[in-house]
Amino acid sequence: MPLEIIQYPHPTLRHISKPLKKVDAELRHMIAEMFDLMYEANGIGLAANQVDLPYRLFVLNLSGDEELKDQEQVFINPVILKRNGSVEHEEGCLSLPKLYADVRRAETVTVSAYDLAGREVTAEATDLFSRAVQHETDHLDGVLFVDRLSEGAKLEVKEKMRFFEDRFFAAREAGDIPSDEAILARLRELERVRT
Ligand code: CO
Repeated sequence: MPLEIIQYPHPTLRHISKPLKKVDAELRHMIAEMFDLMYEANGIGLAANQVDLPYRLFVLNLSGDEELKDQEQVFINPVILKRNGSVEHEEGCLSLPKLYADVRRAETVTVSAYDLAGREVTAEATDLFSRAVQHETDHLDGVLFVDRLSEGAKLEVKEKMRFFEDRFFAAREAGDIPSDEAILARLRELERVRT
C-alpha cells in the first residue's frame, strides 16, 4: 500500500512513536516515499506518524525543492539535547493544511539523531532549521503545533479545526478510515517488526 499523508484528527497523529532498532530496505523505500509526498504537498518537513507509521523518524528539506537532493535530511531516533532562547513565528503543518498560526518555541536547539547510513549526527539548529526540528520532534511525541498556541490563538483556529474534525468523522462514517482499534493494531504490528 502506498503511503499517504494523514490529517488531523487521525489518531496516529497522537501516537507516541517508538525508536527504530533497524533500518532495512523497506524502511528506506518508505523514507523515499515520505520525501515524495512532502514535495507534492509543498512541505519542508514530514514526520513518520504523518504517514501513519509509528517510528521515531522525520525528514526535512528546508529548501522545499526536490531538485536539491543535497538538502535532504533524515533524522532517525532524534533527541533534542538542548534548547536556548524563545521566539515566536508562524507555522503550518501538512496534517492541518492551510492552517497557520504563531507558535512560541526555543530559538536554537541541539539535536542528535542517526542518519540513513547509521551515523550519529549532532547539529546546532537555528532559525527555520530549529523550528522544523522542534515541530517534527513534537509530532513523534503526538504533539501538534496547534497544541502550543496561546488561548487566544486557539480560539482563532477553532473553526478550522472543527472543519477537519467534521470531515474526518464523515470519512470514517463512510468507511474510508478504519476504527481506532484497527489503526492501533496495525501500528503495533509495524512496531513489532522494527522497534
Ligand atoms: Co507538522
